[in-house]
Amino acid sequence: MSDNHDNHEIDGIREDRKKNPPTYYLILLAGLVIWAIGYMGYHFISGWNQEDAFAQRLEAHKERTAQQQGSEPQAAPASNDPASIKRGKDLYDNQCAMCHGQGGGGGFATDLTIKSRYKYGFDRDAVFQSIREGRPGGMPSSANLLSQRQIDDITNYVISVIRE
Ligand code: HEC
Repeated sequence: MSDNHDNHEIDGIREDRKKNPPTYYLILLAGLVIWAIGYMGYHFISGWNQEDAFAQRLEAHKERTAQQQGSEPQAAPASNDPASIKRGKDLYDNQCAMCHGQGGGGGFATDLTIKSRYKYGFDRDAVFQSIREGRPGGMPSSANLLSQRQIDDITNYVISVIRE
């Protein structure tokens, strides 16, 4: 046993207080300190804080749900997106062509390519509503069969086949 406090040994266990911690430890510590300063600096200077971030998200969420809770779902804005029209055509061929004919050209039911044949309107909202809600003269509702997006796709397709 030695009386030296920096370097003593008790029961065979030696404590060496003069020995420096390993280099990687110092590097790690320095790195953490630098990161912490940067982190605090960023959050204080940028004015970011949890309350504001939360409030913003809550606002965004409220806006979204307010839109969804509107009394009737509305058609999405006009789209010439070819992918949507293609999806709409596939759905149309399966679900509508038996009554409205290939390409909307009519048959058992209304010719959808000619504006003057439309009783309920040929703008996006009217076509969307015709498909979603159905119409009294034999047009079935699709509300329970198709998603909003599918109805949007079919609406895009129907609009794209209107010629005159
Ligand atoms: C069972 C046959 C049938 C099916 C299936 C059908 N429809 Fe119709 N549809 C009709 C009939 C009949 C009318 C006319 C309703 C009326 O005049 O009240 C009509 C009306 C419409 C109208 C309104 C036209 C107007 O006068 O303004 C649109 C748009 C339409 N259908 C699109 C579609 C689409 C798109 C599909 C596929 C999702 C579809 N229909 C499926 C029979 C059908």
